[in-house]
Amino acid sequence: MPEQKNDLMEKIVSLCKRRGFVFPGSDIYGGLANSWDFGPYGSQMKKNIRDHWWKFFVESREDVVGIDAALIMNPKVWEASGHVGNFSDPLVECKQCHSRFRADHLGFTDAAGKVIDRKDISCPECGKNDWTETQQFNTMLKTFLGPAEESANVAYLRPETAQAMFVNFVQVQQTSRKKLPFGIAQNGRAFRNEITPGNFIFRTREFDLMEFEYFFNPMKSNWEEIFEFWKKEMEQWMSEVGIDAKKTHAVDIPDGERAHYSKRTIDFEFDFPFGQKELFGLAYRGDFDLEQHEKASEKELRYLDAETNEKIRPHVIEPAFGADRAMLAILASAFEEQKLDGDDVRTVLHLKPVIAPVQVAVFPLMKNKPELVEKAREIFATLKKDFRCEFDDNGNVGKRYRRQDEIGTPYCVTVDFDTLTDGAVTVRDRDTMQQERVKIEELHRYLS
Ligand code: GAP
Repeated sequence: MPEQKNDLMEKIVSLCKRRGFVFPGSDIYGGLANSWDFGPYGSQMKKNIRDHWWKFFVESREDVVGIDAALIMNPKVWEASGHVGNFSDPLVECKQCHSRFRADHLGFTDAAGKVIDRKDISCPECGKNDWTETQQFNTMLKTFLGPAEESANVAYLRPETAQAMFVNFVQVQQTSRKKLPFGIAQNGRAFRNEITPGNFIFRTREFDLMEFEYFFNPMKSNWEEIFEFWKKEMEQWMSEVGIDAKKTHAVDIPDGERAHYSKRTIDFEFDFPFGQKELFGLAYRGDFDLEQHEKASEKELRYLDAETNEKIRPHVIEPAFGADRAMLAILASAFEEQKLDGDDVRTVLHLKPVIAPVQVAVFPLMKNKPELVEKAREIFATLKKDFRCEFDDNGNVGKRYRRQDEIGTPYCVTVDFDTLTDGAVTVRDRDTMQQERVKIEELHRYLS
């Protein structure tokens, strides 16, 4: 039911704030609309998402290499790529209260983006019905380089990381000596001056992108097969980070609705608490970008095929992931309120160990017993070399378990009086709440 779903969103936002995952940005100054700061657990969790992405798509493969390019590129890049001309959303303004909205979100355009003349739409802010014409609003964030704010010094904060993979194609290919097909990957901040950001970290004006361009020779490789291959790999990655497959839908975007560069696009959509919305994208960009940059820069962006001795312009398939949306989908997949005895409710995040900000929490049963604290500290010091660990001696053990459940810690290890004689600790499993005695020397292997 929709009420319950909205309720879920409120619960996730409140847990994130309460436990230090995500706070409203610039809070002491009244915040800045739709900006969010990631606290200790949130920044660790987002880093784990990025790290697992990099490990899965770059480090563990022979045919993908990474780059880390400048966020601000020569503005000619964005002219050539079509972003200066096309990277825009339709905008309408209420003439009465001057609120601005995405025209497509209010129903002023059809699915293909064509403007429809509708007189019956009321302003969500003031309820009046007095609109400007729909106009295109470019969503690239503009800035000026150097001390003079003049048009010669205009620069853009990158709206996607992809373009650096195209403009560096030749240098990366030659220095890495990769043969087609191969990919170039990058992750990092992207910026878009969204008309209507919102829904917590779902749509913001700055966010983390993780994407790669997989280049291939269209005469030698079948693009449909490569497309299918990466679709499956994306699904595999989603399952490894804990995005619920039952809430994920692969939606083919029809002609006329795709981005200006794409010959085929699949959007992976997710059942967010506020509705089914885009999570990640997979696009066949053809050789659009390399061709545009060849024309604009007058530099050859080609690959020399050693067999045919021909220089070809590769085509490209692009899987693109937003790290913040990934985090929201993981939280929505992992969140559970479990009814225990009586009125007791346990909030738990069933996070995968690879994503959980803390993997093992170590407790002394009582904080005022030095022999327990000392043993627990010793175990903590050993485990934290290989696991993300937290030491906690606040309050009673029951409360510590609940706190760790809420932040998604898979295991809690407690040192009690028996530990001092039997050399074993109690390990408690987050999901089953089962407790097991494990010998200290077995602990590392058990947790691994
Ligand atoms: N290079 C292709 C590209 O940028 P996109 O569909 O525009 O494609 C890729 O963006 C992904 O970035 C989206 O699937 C989404 O996960 C994320 N994303 C896009 N806009 C966002 C925003 N305003 N806030 C948070 N994440 C966003």
